[in-house]
Amino acid sequence: MPPSASSATNLAAGYFPGAHGENAEWMHSALTAVLDHWFDWRRGLFPNDAVPGPTPHRAADRETLAAQLDILCRSLTGETPTCTPRYIAHMKSDISTPALLGWMAAMLHNPNNTSREASRVGTRLETEAIAMLASMLGYGPTTAQGHFTSGGTAANMEAVWRARYRMDHWLSLALCLAETKGRALDVFADAHMGWVQFRALRQSHDLNDDLLRRYSAAAGNPMDVWRRLDRASASRWRGPVLLAPATAHYSWRKAANIFGLGEDSLWSIGLDGDGRLDMDDLERLIRRARDEARPILMTVAVAGATETGQIDPLDQLQMRLEQLKAEGLHIWNHVDAAYGGFFQAAGPVFDTRTTAALGAMGAADSLTIDPHKLGYTPYACGAFLTRDAASYAVSAFDAPYLDRPELGAGKWSSTLEGSRSAAGAAAVWLTGKTLGFDADGLGKILAETVRARRQFQATVIDHVAEARFLEPADSNIACFSIAARGEPLSVVNRRTEALFAAIHRSPEFSVSKTRLGEASAALVARHVARWRGTADTSSLILIRCVFTNPYWSEPNVRTALFSEFAALVNEEIKKRALPG
Ligand SMILES: Cc1ncc(COP(=O)(O)O)c(C=O)c1O
Repeated sequence: MPPSASSATNLAAGYFPGAHGENAEWMHSALTAVLDHWFDWRRGLFPNDAVPGPTPHRAADRETLAAQLDILCRSLTGETPTCTPRYIAHMKSDISTPALLGWMAAMLHNPNNTSREASRVGTRLETEAIAMLASMLGYGPTTAQGHFTSGGTAANMEAVWRARYRMDHWLSLALCLAETKGRALDVFADAHMGWVQFRALRQSHDLNDDLLRRYSAAAGNPMDVWRRLDRASASRWRGPVLLAPATAHYSWRKAANIFGLGEDSLWSIGLDGDGRLDMDDLERLIRRARDEARPILMTVAVAGATETGQIDPLDQLQMRLEQLKAEGLHIWNHVDAAYGGFFQAAGPVFDTRTTAALGAMGAADSLTIDPHKLGYTPYACGAFLTRDAASYAVSAFDAPYLDRPELGAGKWSSTLEGSRSAAGAAAVWLTGKTLGFDADGLGKILAETVRARRQFQATVIDHVAEARFLEPADSNIACFSIAARGEPLSVVNRRTEALFAAIHRSPEFSVSKTRLGEASAALVARHVARWRGTADTSSLILIRCVFTNPYWSEPNVRTALFSEFAALVNEEIKKRALPG
């Protein structure tokens, strides 16, 4: 039956191993076929070459290996069982069969996607798989560029690297003109000048890239260039800032640190009462950046916040950045859709606000998406994409020992990471070719994870009157605390800690816990108001439940496990009596 005719339950049953290994027999045969291909291929290669004869050691070696392999496999059964829907702790669940088989098939050949020379087929699969993701995300599949990374952290760093490359070009040109032609330097305006003005100035002054390198902080000595920026602008150069919402993943702070921007350069955009990027606060930070002459290296918006699953108003942000662009202020717009990128395929499960926000992803300069989260591929598989080739351009690094004609005359390395496996690309490719990245395939399963989250909340509220969920929840992550009317937040937080510890001790369910702080003040205030409590502390601790597991599509699984979870919560909170 084609995916379009299948229900989410059937898709989950058909495209995943099964929580109890229901597809074991079929997977055995599919994996054997993969191995057969691999061995046939090897046998067919240079069949007349000499091979080592039988050795007496072979049997003994195999015995040792088999014994140790058995020990390894047994020890791995002690791993966290993330395949079961009872695991709702983090953004991880079962891996799909196409992803696993695609990953294994490619992994056996071990291609290194650092160059086409080292990976003839793997690099082609990568191009095709990136085009599949690009189409789903709203980019043009032939104009978008991108590559697979080890994960969302590396993909986010790819974005910082490219945004810095772009701003460095614009500032280098402005410094060059200031020093050689006496043109007035306005660091804020010039750092956002746009490629059109850059090209016009470069052409009219007959400048070239080699010359501009002498004015580049990225290519030359940054301290030297910064001092010259001070002199030319008659002000103190304080470096660029990154604007990211308080929900931004900690990899952004890491990136600010690693790229030498300094962690202080990460300015946190406050959240609105719904836990999403607050557009007014963004406006405030843009004004502040302008006042302090600190160019905005990039804005980051999040589609699927790590802690809460919220989806920022990407459409409003995009519209505002377009207005600024019309005023000559070109600001890089990155969407961290590491978690929520695949929701693009989920169709009508979302309200109009969320649908409009997701629909704006295709206008971003760059995107992060993690197939190893809601794409159900094995680790380590993230992806970084840009809308077009110009945004993909980055600092040039020649690798004299690699033949890479595909990268053009310069043979530049265009990825942060060096050696890169093609296995993730193959996993995505096979998923795209079978389950599909649309509303009839993967999207159907993801829509059910959102519905499962809604049903979970309704069931828990039904059984536990004092359950207070963070609302609205945009996707498939539910966060809650247990609070009696009028209770101070500090008391509620202590109960949440105790409940988390109790669930953690029980073998039945795995949940996680998160803490929202100062930057989420509006969200925290709205949450505390749900039980008319007092916010005697600024931090809110929540139980966090992440519904990524595909088997939540099955109505019987939901009915049975949600009630069981609610009963567990009830039992635990009875032990720590709530005030009447
Ligand atoms: C929104 C977001 N961005 C980036 C990351 C980092 O991804 P990774 O752990 O694959 O590096 C995460 C991880 O949870 C995330 O949720």
